[in-house]
Amino acid sequence: MRFSKIIGTGSYLPEKILTNADLEKIVDTTDEWIRDRTGIEQRHMAADDQTTGDLAYIAATRALEAAGVAAKDIDLIVVGTTTPDLIFPSTATLVQHRLGANGCGAMDVNAACSGFIYALSIADNFIRAGSAKRALVIGAETLTRMLNWADRTTCVLFADGAGAVVLEASDKPGVLSTHIHADGAYTNALYNPVGVSKGFKEGEVNHGIKVVMQGQEVFKVAVRTLARVVDETLEANGLNKTDIDWLVPHQANLRIIQATARHLDMPMEKVILTVQKHGNTSSASVPLALDHGIRSGQIKPGQTLLMEAFGGGFTWGSALVRI
Ligand code: ACO
Repeated sequence: MRFSKIIGTGSYLPEKILTNADLEKIVDTTDEWIRDRTGIEQRHMAADDQTTGDLAYIAATRALEAAGVAAKDIDLIVVGTTTPDLIFPSTATLVQHRLGANGCGAMDVNAACSGFIYALSIADNFIRAGSAKRALVIGAETLTRMLNWADRTTCVLFADGAGAVVLEASDKPGVLSTHIHADGAYTNALYNPVGVSKGFKEGEVNHGIKVVMQGQEVFKVAVRTLARVVDETLEANGLNKTDIDWLVPHQANLRIIQATARHLDMPMEKVILTVQKHGNTSSASVPLALDHGIRSGQIKPGQTLLMEAFGGGFTWGSALVRI
């Protein structure tokens, strides 16, 4: 049987750090409120001249280096992002050219915070089907570019970063299964109202692009839905909760992560946590956490990881991976 296997990971966080104390100077908030409600202590912010593609490119080079694979040997690039450099061409093609992987298929996937899980699912299916041999899967965002810095309910949450993995065809697992879902009935709970087809209003492009969110609704549905998708994943693989070595969750909010860990009867020691230092980097959050877990030596070869994410759409998904 043909599987895809993660053979290298990489990530990148911009140098600039914005602490909760910094945010206290911008909006009416406190370090205590942010820590209590979200677990976030600090987040990274791209420099003015840094784009999502710049972040993605560095994460990708690190993943390729870890995998020992040359860019020219990649035959598919999938980038999960909600904050592309341009409307077109895709960030994936911009990164492809900089890497020197010209010629291979390259596409962006917009599934909000679930972008990396969607991208991984697509690449895994291409490899399983025999349509690709080696894929570069990236999650990259510059979320701080579309925040309303006067809205304390959203600007304290989101951040910038990128993570990447190299997938290679293998006769051993690998990615055991991926599961992706969406429910467009929840559009109004979390969205950005600006778009090409809806039209840009004067001044909106530079000053008005903003995330709109009903925080409590997102919270409730996320906890409920993530519990369902982790059950679906275990059932699809005939596994028990105790078979999972690590939970590598989307890093949106510590309380959402704790709820999923509780549902899996997993102690927090078996959860890769980066939300305190990274904030919510949307599509980048899962591969950033994965790279952190691997490079810190917490995640070891042969272990089984459950990755999950939930985001605007709503979209959600999971991946069960033997590393
Ligand atoms: N600082 C201080 N006070 C604040 C802040 C802030 N940054 N933000 C909101 N408040 C105030 C509110 O105005 C409200 O005040 P009021 O009672 O006087 O009206 C009070 O705090 C409580 O607000 P709630 O919205 O009820 O706070 P809640 O406990 O729900 O926490 C939060 C808000 C953190 C946004 C939570 O709902 C949440 O995490 N939701 C999930 C959102 C999320 O993760 N979105 C990311 C994208 S989707 C995903 O990745 C899962």
